[in-house]
Amino acid sequence: METNNNQNNTQEPIKVSIVGASGYTGGELLRLLLMHPKVKVMQATSERNAKKLIKTVHPNLRHLRPIKFTSINDLVACDLLFLCLPHKTTMEKISQLKQLAPKIIDLSGDFRLKTKEDYQKWYEHEHTNPELLNQFVYGIPELHKEDMKNANYISSAGCNATCTILGLYPLIKAGVIDLKLPIIAESKCGSSEGGNKFSLASHHPERTGCVRSYKPTRHRHTAEMLQELSIPIDNPNNAPEDNGAEQKPNIHFSATSIQMIRGILTTSHVFLKPELNLTELDIWKIYRSTYKDQPFIRFVNDRSGIYRMPEPKILTATNFCDIGFQKDPQSNRLVVISAIDNLMKGAAGQAVQGMNIMMNFEETLGLEFPGLHPI
Ligand SMILES: NC(=O)c1ccc[n+]([C@@H]2O[C@H](COP(=O)([O-])OP(=O)(O)OC[C@H]3O[C@@H](n4cnc5c(N)ncnc54)[C@H](OP(=O)(O)O)[C@@H]3O)[C@@H](O)[C@H]2O)c1
Repeated sequence: METNNNQNNTQEPIKVSIVGASGYTGGELLRLLLMHPKVKVMQATSERNAKKLIKTVHPNLRHLRPIKFTSINDLVACDLLFLCLPHKTTMEKISQLKQLAPKIIDLSGDFRLKTKEDYQKWYEHEHTNPELLNQFVYGIPELHKEDMKNANYISSAGCNATCTILGLYPLIKAGVIDLKLPIIAESKCGSSEGGNKFSLASHHPERTGCVRSYKPTRHRHTAEMLQELSIPIDNPNNAPEDNGAEQKPNIHFSATSIQMIRGILTTSHVFLKPELNLTELDIWKIYRSTYKDQPFIRFVNDRSGIYRMPEPKILTATNFCDIGFQKDPQSNRLVVISAIDNLMKGAAGQAVQGMNIMMNFEETLGLEFPGLHPI
């Protein structure tokens, strides 16, 4: 576990507010931040529930400090703002919100992509604040921790993107995947990914028991995967001349809704470079060396029992990403399995991890919950 020698040990808690706190990610942030020893939650916004107590929307928080929702128009200055608004709404309001806090962590998709062209291509409308895109650090700490330490703005990563990227990153960084061949990834997703707005698709008779292919192609999180995994080879075991080569992985992603409230299980199929003759042990070494200082990555490599591969069920309410894999003995195909809780490592948990890094707190503070079993 990484330790930070320069930790912020001031006694005064930082003042944070949550914009869009009546939604699922906002509720999860309230749960984490109301218990966080170095944070004081000042305001939580909801237009539909303004003046109501947060427990009316988030009944699990009944015993905690009785904060009332306020309107976004009544926000006052604070140290750090968490934004849990729908994409497009965030960029419409960012100029106003920026005036209220020196630090922002945005959970929407509006500031994750680095160019306005990519945003237009994947979100199918124009970005109205493109000059801010390069001011946000992409919020997967396992990839960008150093940049996050000095950041004022973090754009927390998409949930499916987080799960897929964390599974693939060590292999691409090490340069062991044959990138002439496509990488195929598929996520099975819980219903809370869609937020708390009702629709016919979320109506109980329509959603319950479904195995619904809701985005076979063109899922927006694909753009984040392409952006974050287009990285040069950086492998300490390579000769220096083999490092630094640019790579552009050809990632194809699909998403399927299944009977689950929280959780994502991503199955990624990659083909290893045949000339490297890698064994499973070689691959474990790559994963372990890449993530050796990352407190929220766990490897699942059991030879027996029923939990031999990552499973989102036992990650419920935790900030872990569990990763496992199996190499096909008949070919160079490697099947990587990664799992997270979409509202935690895929949203609020990762945002709090980002805050801890940004504010120089212990990275794991307020996120130590190990999960439940059985559940
Ligand atoms: N759900 C996930 O698994 C997940 C994971 C990662 C990232 N995200 C992203 O995080 C953001 C929030 O997601 P969510 O699932 O929490 O959504 P949600 O449950 O639908 O909540 C949306 C929140 O935004 C507020 N809001 C909506 N339109 C607004 C407006 N025009 N002005 C002011 N407030 C407005 C809502 O407040 P009212 O009470 O006033 O309606 C509500 O508090 C989205 O951008 C989403 O893509 C979601």
